[in-house]
Amino acid sequence: MFRQRLIAPGPVEISPAVQLAMAQSQLHHRSPEAKVVVKRARELLRIVAGVSEAIEPLILTASGTGAFEAILTSLVARGSEVASVSAGKFGERWGDMAKTLGYTTHQTRLEWGTSIPVSAVTTLLEANPNSKALLVTHSETSTGALHDLENIAKAARAVNPKILILVDAITSLGMAELQLEAWGLDAVISGSQKATGAPPGLAFVYLAPSALAILESSQATAYYFDLRRELKVQASGETAFTPAINLIVGLNASLEPIAAEILEHGITAWWANKKAMNNALLECAKALGCSSFAEHPSPACVTLVPPAPISGRELWQALLKRGARAQTGQDGIKDKICRISFMGHFDRYDALSFAGLLEEALLDCGAKFTRGVGVAALWAALEV
Ligand SMILES: Cc1ncc(COP(=O)(O)O)c(C=O)c1O
Repeated sequence: MFRQRLIAPGPVEISPAVQLAMAQSQLHHRSPEAKVVVKRARELLRIVAGVSEAIEPLILTASGTGAFEAILTSLVARGSEVASVSAGKFGERWGDMAKTLGYTTHQTRLEWGTSIPVSAVTTLLEANPNSKALLVTHSETSTGALHDLENIAKAARAVNPKILILVDAITSLGMAELQLEAWGLDAVISGSQKATGAPPGLAFVYLAPSALAILESSQATAYYFDLRRELKVQASGETAFTPAINLIVGLNASLEPIAAEILEHGITAWWANKKAMNNALLECAKALGCSSFAEHPSPACVTLVPPAPISGRELWQALLKRGARAQTGQDGIKDKICRISFMGHFDRYDALSFAGLLEEALLDCGAKFTRGVGVAALWAALEV
């Protein structure tokens, strides 16, 4: 028998403190207690994103996709032109979404696993100067690639200073360096089932002053996802509709210790630690004959290509046989890669035990190496 482990790039493992917090008596969302919970969640969301009070975080009861629909439909008038640049399934989704919602959509789709070159952004926006927004994903979880968001944003502004930069940071927020204010991002979204270590069901929107100004005079149309309406009420701890208040209680229980660590050591140290953990996982996997599918790996997710002839799916199955649920690839790379993440309730000692698990799973698949080399590689990488 094995302990069940969630090592997928979301949903992630939930700490006992989060589970316990959500087991209390049902709160009414219009009660004074609920308002305190929502207000505190918004403060904590600012801390984990490393943003000042100029940024407004909003909480939506939806998955991350709902938050992207919210920023698009609340900030950009339907029928406008938008540009989308992607190199993976989630980035492609935003272009598809925009098309479905009635935007004239200019899309550049690049090879999966690559990181978007800045030149692709420049070319796309020069060819489509009337684009009102650039839709982009920071950490492309389908391929494990991190995109150079800072320079993507810079390049976009160089072509079109007025363009809105709408960012999917679903797996990068709280995992990778993300300088919402310094990089001039207008709206950034994330989801509860990733680095914030809460169950699925909540989505977060971060609005910069530029986006807030647009909201005031916007002709954009949204109803459930009308951010103007949410903005009016969330400052006082209300939400426009019935929120998943139990999840917000759980979110706070997860974010309190994270925020305390960030306040003590700084957000840069937090990001560095996440990067080091992911790098250690990658070093361990390389010592066992695996390679990374992603050109520039995101700290949120490792996409492993096992040594031939083992497929990513076989590795995924061997991990599952031992109680550990990772994730296969998607679409054209479904069987090729196995995706593993250290997001959520996870520390360096969990990483160490995972190295042993990965060794056994790969040996079971027929890989050849001396037991212990993966553990040693991970340990060595963590020492740096
Ligand atoms: C980068 C990225 N974008 C979008 C999504 C979709 O999020 P959701 O399923 O919460 O709507 C995910 C989910 O894994 C993701 O990793």
